[in-house]
Amino acid sequence: MQNSQPCRLQCRWSAAPERHEQILSIILGYWQANALGLATKLGLADLLAEGPLQVEELAGRTGANAGALFRMLRALESIGIFTQTDRRTFANTPVSELLRNDSPDSQAAGVVHQLCKGNGSYEAWNEFEHTIMTGESAINKIYGCDFFEFLQSNPQANEAMNRAMRSISTAITPAVTDAYDWGKFQEIVDVGGGIGTQIVSILNAFPLTKGVVFDLPHVVAEAIPHERLKATGGSFFEWAPSGADAYLLRFILHDWSDENAAAILRAVRCSMKPSATLILAEWLIPEGPEHDLSKWTDLHMMVLFQGARERTRTELSRLLTTAGFESEEAVPTGSSVTLLVAKPTEQGLGTRGSSRQTVMNRPAIVNDR
Ligand SMILES: C[S@@+](CC[C@H](N)C(=O)[O-])C[C@H]1O[C@@H](n2cnc3c(N)ncnc32)[C@H](O)[C@@H]1O
Repeated sequence: MQNSQPCRLQCRWSAAPERHEQILSIILGYWQANALGLATKLGLADLLAEGPLQVEELAGRTGANAGALFRMLRALESIGIFTQTDRRTFANTPVSELLRNDSPDSQAAGVVHQLCKGNGSYEAWNEFEHTIMTGESAINKIYGCDFFEFLQSNPQANEAMNRAMRSISTAITPAVTDAYDWGKFQEIVDVGGGIGTQIVSILNAFPLTKGVVFDLPHVVAEAIPHERLKATGGSFFEWAPSGADAYLLRFILHDWSDENAAAILRAVRCSMKPSATLILAEWLIPEGPEHDLSKWTDLHMMVLFQGARERTRTELSRLLTTAGFESEEAVPTGSSVTLLVAKPTEQGLGTRGSSRQTVMNRPAIVNDR
């Protein structure tokens, strides 16, 4: 009787209809995400950079319990993250190599930012129910301020966020650079450009083009040094550097409600010369029921930012029209992101900026390289 139990269970699982397997795999995904987050936070892939180590050695260096750590690593090994070269001795795999902080295409910062305590995302998803029941951002409930204000007052979370944007967009950045002839512009402003990951990639590919990374002062203070890049601090609700040929907004509008997104576009519009080009880089929600990353990042936006959303192409085009732009074309990239190219029109111009209280409302040049 005792022996027949596992067999019956096994038979039941193997005979499980696909829809049951689907539910189980989602639950498993949650457990796996927790193990991945902790392994990355503990820096296990970095510790294995020089070669395999016994689990007792890894436990000693991380302060973890050796028995528990072994079980976590054994489970991660079963999904291709770490491998045992000998009994209880673990080494990196091609996948876990991506968790090393010194790897050129490291995903470590993105994993820690998304899955580990203290950076906002983990806390926000724990309050997912609040967001769904009220429509309010979980961050506002937890911290009493918006996500960017939370980052400004938490230097460690701010650094994690900036590094995460760089790591999350490892595949997207070169795809955006390759998808468009940026070289036709003499100067490009990357509005809300973070530490300049995308604009630096563009400048490296187009040696005659100059760039400006425009973001909040505490963010551009960390901008990547580049001889053709100027780092300018300020709030895109108030202004943007004027006189450039193109204005790129990558992953900006999805952080904001329609009202605030339109206010950002209007402020940028006011700084643009009539011949300049606006280029949005966003995840577009498809109109149909198919699976798409954007439908999930939409939930992520909803827990993090009040009123934030991913949009369909139609919704973005409508927003552009409201703010005094005319959509010209949608350019696919070799990644999940689409570029929407637009030109300013004479109509639809409102007053500069919005009444929104921003964390930063006075223009400031932080770094003029
Ligand atoms: C989702 S991140 C995108 C960063 C960058 N464009 C990228 O794709 O990696 C949004 C950016 O908007 C910036 N931001 C938020 N509020 C801002 C404001 N009022 N003025 C300028 N930048 C702001 C943030 O600091 C952050 O770098």
